Amino acid sequence: MNVYITRVIPDEGVQLLKNAGHTLNVWEEKRNLTRDELIEKCKDQDALVVAGFNQVDETFLTAASHLKVIALHSVGFDNIDVATATRLRIPVGNTPGVLSGATADTAFLLMLATSRRAFYMHKTIAAGKWGFFEPTADLGIQLNGKTLGIFGLGSIGLEMARRCKAAYGMNVIYHNRGNNHGAEKELDAKKVSFEELLQQSDVLSVHTALSTETRGRFNREAFGQMKPSAIFINTARGPIHDEAALLEALQEKKIWGAGLDVTDPEPMSPGNPLLDLPTVCILPHIGSATVETRNAMARLAAQNIIAGLKGERLPFPVNPEIYEAQEL
Ligand code: DGY
Repeated sequence: MNVYITRVIPDEGVQLLKNAGHTLNVWEEKRNLTRDELIEKCKDQDALVVAGFNQVDETFLTAASHLKVIALHSVGFDNIDVATATRLRIPVGNTPGVLSGATADTAFLLMLATSRRAFYMHKTIAAGKWGFFEPTADLGIQLNGKTLGIFGLGSIGLEMARRCKAAYGMNVIYHNRGNNHGAEKELDAKKVSFEELLQQSDVLSVHTALSTETRGRFNREAFGQMKPSAIFINTARGPIHDEAALLEALQEKKIWGAGLDVTDPEPMSPGNPLLDLPTVCILPHIGSATVETRNAMARLAAQNIIAGLKGERLPFPVNPEIYEAQEL
C-alpha cells in the first residue's frame, strides 16, 4: 500500500515499512507542505506519517478521510484534530516513551546551562570579552538541595525529576490533575497546587502537553508569583508560556533565568531579545534529537502504520476510543 511521509525519517522506520511491502512517498523539500499540497499528495495514499508540524486539521482530514491510518513521528499530537480523526474513524498513533530520556536530558542540560549562564558565557568569549577575572562576576546559581517543580509529571517529567534527584538531591514537587503515585513513592514527590508550584519552585520545568487548558498558562500573573531566583524551563511546547510575559519577567527580574527548547513561534527569529539575555539558554526544539531516540521514534511510527494498514489496533494509539466503540 502507499504511505506518504511528510519529512525524511530515519532509515530504521523506512526499512520496516518497505519490508512490510509498502511503497513510500517522501516529501524531501526543506519546507512545510501547505495544507492543500498535503491534501493533493495524500489523494492516492493509504496512510500518512506526519514527521514535523504539519497541521492535520478538520479540512485536511475531511479531504483525506480515505486514509486508513495516520502515524505521528512525535509523542505530541497538538497539531492533529484528534476529535475529527476519531469521528472519521481514522486511527492516529504516536511515539510515547521512547523520547522521555532524551527530552529529560535536554531539560536537565538547559537547567544546568541556565544556572551557570553557559550559553551567554560562550558568546562573550566569541565576542572577545573574556577579560579581567573578577571574583564577583559571572556568578550562577547552585542547584544542590533546591526544589524542582514539575508542571505535568508524566513520563518525561519523571525522567527529569529522577535526574535532578540523583544529581543534586533536589526536592520534587509537581502539579498534575491526578496523583503520580509512582513518583511520590520513588522520589518522595509532592503534589501541590499550581500557585504552590509557582511560589515554591527554584527550578520550574514544563512537561505537559499543549491543550486549551495549558496554552498560555505561564503568563504575566504566573511569572509574577515565582521566586526572583527561579529558573523556568520549557521543553514541551512553546505556546504553554507567553513569550512576551517571559521576556518581561526576566527583564524586570521577577525570575532569574529561562531555558527553552521550544518557542512560539518556531523557528524563533534571530533578533528575539531573549537571545541576548545572560541568563537565558535557547535550543531549536532538539529534545528528542539523538540517533537512538529518533531511530526508536521511526520504528514506532512504522509499527503504527503497519498495524493500521492491516486493520489491526495500533500499538500506540492516540484515539483508542475508536476501538472501544467497535468492541461495544
Ligand atoms: C515530540 O515528539 O512531540 C517532540 O516535541 C518532537 O520532537
